[in-house]
Amino acid sequence: MKITVVGAGAVGASCAEYIAIKDFASEVVLLDIKEGFAEGKAMDLMQTATLNGFDTTITGTTGDYSKTKDSQVAVITSGIPRKPGMTREELIGINAGIVKDVASELIKHSPEVTIIVVSNPMDTMTYLAHKELGLPKHRIIGMGGALDSARFKYRLSEALGCPSSDVDGMVIGGHSDTGMLPLTRLATRNSVRVTEFLSEDRLAQVAEDTKVGGATLTKLLGTSAWYAPGAAVSSLVQSIACDQKKMFPCSTLLDGEYGLKDLCIGVPVIIGKNGIEKVVEIELNEQEKAKLKESAEAVKKTNGLLE
Ligand code: 2OP
Repeated sequence: MKITVVGAGAVGASCAEYIAIKDFASEVVLLDIKEGFAEGKAMDLMQTATLNGFDTTITGTTGDYSKTKDSQVAVITSGIPRKPGMTREELIGINAGIVKDVASELIKHSPEVTIIVVSNPMDTMTYLAHKELGLPKHRIIGMGGALDSARFKYRLSEALGCPSSDVDGMVIGGHSDTGMLPLTRLATRNSVRVTEFLSEDRLAQVAEDTKVGGATLTKLLGTSAWYAPGAAVSSLVQSIACDQKKMFPCSTLLDGEYGLKDLCIGVPVIIGKNGIEKVVEIELNEQEKAKLKESAEAVKKTNGLLE
């Protein structure tokens, strides 16, 4: 399985590193426009192969898309990251043009590719890729919910004072500070609802900390995060490459599911060799439905900026 990662910045390089360490792909091509940058990152990563025990070959290229030929999966991380105090939505002006160009270049060389969009504002960039390429909807996936859910589980385990492996939970909705909807009602610790252990106020705090998870890190790091985004993408790529059929919340083009149409937003989906193999419709309560609708309206407003 050949995988392309466009953008050799922190997210793209982490993503390539985690894919390699998990050792399920034969080849990862890292592409960047900055001269020598992807080649350098690829070489540095390859020099960890014997130390970390992987056989994946990582190569780098400066903008030569012919090297990405016949990739089964491609990840788009290109564009500018946010700076402290910025929202993801503010990146649209620069990132829309970049994502459009990258998506069309990828498809020229890999007509069968499944694309994972990471660039922000992620839901709108996923929608843009759909509009630009007109591919079947299962072949374009927006990454946000997988990352937001990992952050949610981290915050839950912190509140519960337990290992993260005890915790399960999911974040749906838009990948934005206000649009995320951490499903606190359904989160569990070893199949017991966390509502049994945590007060309403503590859970509200967990939800709030989850929603600003990216912003908190951006403030601490001076730029947006990379380890968890890279790991989240690598899990999606693995689910496709190994046909795992795992369920993740991902941004997908909806056509009536959850009462929503003509936008990409995070909902639970099954990820397998065909990309998004199924949208899973779970029963939401009235409050959750209202929040998802509000989140969808905000995403549509951002999509409107593309016109
Ligand atoms: C984040 O939330 C990169 O949007 C990404 O960190």
